[in-house]
Amino acid sequence: MDWTPASWRTLTASQQPDWPEVELKEALDEIGSLPPLVFAGEARTLQDSLAKVSRGEAFVLQAGDCAESFSDFSADAIRDKLKIILQMAVVLTYASGLPVVKLGRIAGQFAKPRSSATEMVKGRELPSFRGHAVNDFAFDENARRADPRRLVRAYHQSAATLNLIRALTKGGFADLNQIHTWNQEFVASSSQGRRYEQIARHIDRAMRFMAACGIDLATDSSLHQVDLFTSHEALILGYEEALTRRDSLTGDWYDCSAHLLWIGERTRDPNGAHVEFLAGVRNPIAVKVGPSAAADDLVALCDRLNPNNEPGRLSFVSRMGAGRVEDALPGLVKRVRDEGREVVWICDPMHGNTFVTERSIKTRRFDDVVGEIKSFFMVHLQEGTVPGGVHLELTHQDVTECLGGAEEVLDAHLGDRYQALCDPRLNARQSLDLAFQIGEMLQG
Ligand code: PEP
Ligand code: CO
Repeated sequence: MDWTPASWRTLTASQQPDWPEVELKEALDEIGSLPPLVFAGEARTLQDSLAKVSRGEAFVLQAGDCAESFSDFSADAIRDKLKIILQMAVVLTYASGLPVVKLGRIAGQFAKPRSSATEMVKGRELPSFRGHAVNDFAFDENARRADPRRLVRAYHQSAATLNLIRALTKGGFADLNQIHTWNQEFVASSSQGRRYEQIARHIDRAMRFMAACGIDLATDSSLHQVDLFTSHEALILGYEEALTRRDSLTGDWYDCSAHLLWIGERTRDPNGAHVEFLAGVRNPIAVKVGPSAAADDLVALCDRLNPNNEPGRLSFVSRMGAGRVEDALPGLVKRVRDEGREVVWICDPMHGNTFVTERSIKTRRFDDVVGEIKSFFMVHLQEGTVPGGVHLELTHQDVTECLGGAEEVLDAHLGDRYQALCDPRLNARQSLDLAFQIGEMLQG
């Protein structure tokens, strides 16, 4: 009732950097005076799409980097990130006959929660890297200092990224007639790339068939434009507060930094500051749910975040680890179902499957990623609930960060092209490979 964008400040927010106070206030005041990045109406459209997902009438593909980077930022990179998401969406739609709700971890995914506040290298202890909105990756004292000017830069990079996304998705690049051009060269030469080309040819033929039947394809905007919604972890609450604005149409508060905001596994305390903040904004919200979550916690989160039980308002993103899904997930799904709570269930098969190799490289196995999604589908089949989508860390690049896949990345290759700032991502071939496998699960 007495919620304001600042009411989270009465609680202790976890995972907040150690900012210099005066500079932080200056940066947040500046961001507070800048235009919103997204609009309330767009967030409502996303909630409507997620409501369809909750009824099994659409499927969510949420994907992107673990952490976006200030240095790897260019028009080509944004275009290629979009390419892999569009390719995967085509594969999923072709297999399942369902529309795919496309949600990027993009245009704002700059802040990372950490298990430990500091990092020790060769006997030297420095603050952990917390994402480019906070500090730099380089292991030196200056680089690791939390710098509030980075929040302003994150805002501007998000704005420029969104600007290009809007142009590409609405201005012809995402047109189904361009379906062949989304296949990047290093993908096209692989078996998955060839399988994609086959689907693309079938879609071409279907469009020619419809045109021959007299259907006017030129005027149907759904063939020529797509919606790509943005999302990130709402971690740095001062930044999110500064971008929270009242919608002039409805008078409701929206966090205009992204269409959907999520709460991470480390900050989902139902009585904590992050939940308090997101309870008051009307965007669709997601919460990561790991193996330690209790069914009571989820019900408490539903009470706090979706008191009116609106479909599409709240998603739970399950991230258990391949071996734990069948133990940990059924009890949670059952309880939420039996309480009649409206939630979208999404599977994050990445964060429960991270491990460190003998040579100290953080990685994930492609087979574990597939395995977690399979178990997730199985649990929902058994409980009569809807497996609503997947949440993936991936890149358009030809990196070697995750092990396995059809064109296998081996342990010995992990060091070759490892570019992740934070967690290991699927490369474009592994991503397309995964899309085919999820497509088969959706058919089954
Ligand atoms: C993430 O999505 O990058 C992340 C840190 O996830 P989680 O909160 O599930 O650990
Ligand atoms: Co991550």
